[in-house]
Amino acid sequence: MTIVNTHQAEAWNDYEGRHWARNQDRYDRMLAASNVLLFEAAGIERGHQVLDIGCGTGQTTRIAARKAAGGHAFGVDLSGPMLDRARSTAGDEGIANVTFQQGDAQVFEFPQARFDAAISRGGIMYFADPVAAFANIGSALRPGGRLTFWCGREADEDQFGTVWAAMGKHIALPDPAEDTAPGPATFTTEEHIRKVLTQAGFHDVALRPGDAEAVYGRDATEAAEFIFGWGPVRFWLRDADEAAVGRAREAVTTALRALEKDGAVTAVTAAWLVSATWPGRL
Ligand SMILES: C[S@@+](CC[C@H](N)C(=O)[O-])C[C@H]1O[C@@H](n2cnc3c(N)ncnc32)[C@H](O)[C@@H]1O
Repeated sequence: MTIVNTHQAEAWNDYEGRHWARNQDRYDRMLAASNVLLFEAAGIERGHQVLDIGCGTGQTTRIAARKAAGGHAFGVDLSGPMLDRARSTAGDEGIANVTFQQGDAQVFEFPQARFDAAISRGGIMYFADPVAAFANIGSALRPGGRLTFWCGREADEDQFGTVWAAMGKHIALPDPAEDTAPGPATFTTEEHIRKVLTQAGFHDVALRPGDAEAVYGRDATEAAEFIFGWGPVRFWLRDADEAAVGRAREAVTTALRALEKDGAVTAVTAAWLVSATWPGRL
């Protein structure tokens, strides 16, 4: 297995991936509203061959497999612990037309011109060389095949900003402007996404806001406990003293309380819904 995104592979096979695997249901609940948007745009039909990039614990791969009945869904991901969950959940749900494989989508040796559709729910922002990665994904699509993905967007509509602001009053958070490592914060602008996909060889690149209401927990306390377990948050807290972490948690819980509604903590996540076509004729 060739891995070029070694730093990401370490993170997703260690704490980050284990946290996602352990909290599979919570993450899926958090992101559920985006599934509707992703699949409306992806246009998956019965018999299709579908590729799910950075499929994680595989909820979107399983949805794709059901929509592509008679066809197949293939999920690829760096994370062993998340793929273990993906395989066992698909087995529990009796979904036979799905397979998962561990690998780095940037260099994975995909079958060429095989897939009708490639999809991703937030699994395509971590490539060190995104142009090479999307060119590799494109080569797996049939001519005319569609890429559709959902990823974060920096915008005032993002209600979670109040939570980060509350945390940032007590601990030093990284300045997004200085964060240049591949990740959600560096794949958010229309200009950049358009440039990467076009250079990779995609046509008809289209972006539209895909804002979705994310669910963080049943109440503010549960949501704060979840958020303070996220890999990046633990990383930011690593040098903070216990008292500062306590104050940050209190402030975050207060901010989350303002987002409690109908038995859940919800916030609109600003996002892009992106689609593009791999050139050629079917
Ligand atoms: C934010 S999680 C999203 C997981 C899943 N798509 C979901 O919505 O539940 C990002 C995923 O991308 C995967 N990932 C990151 N870089 C990757 C790469 N180069 N190749 C394959 N998977 C990658 C991670 O292992 C992780 O599972």
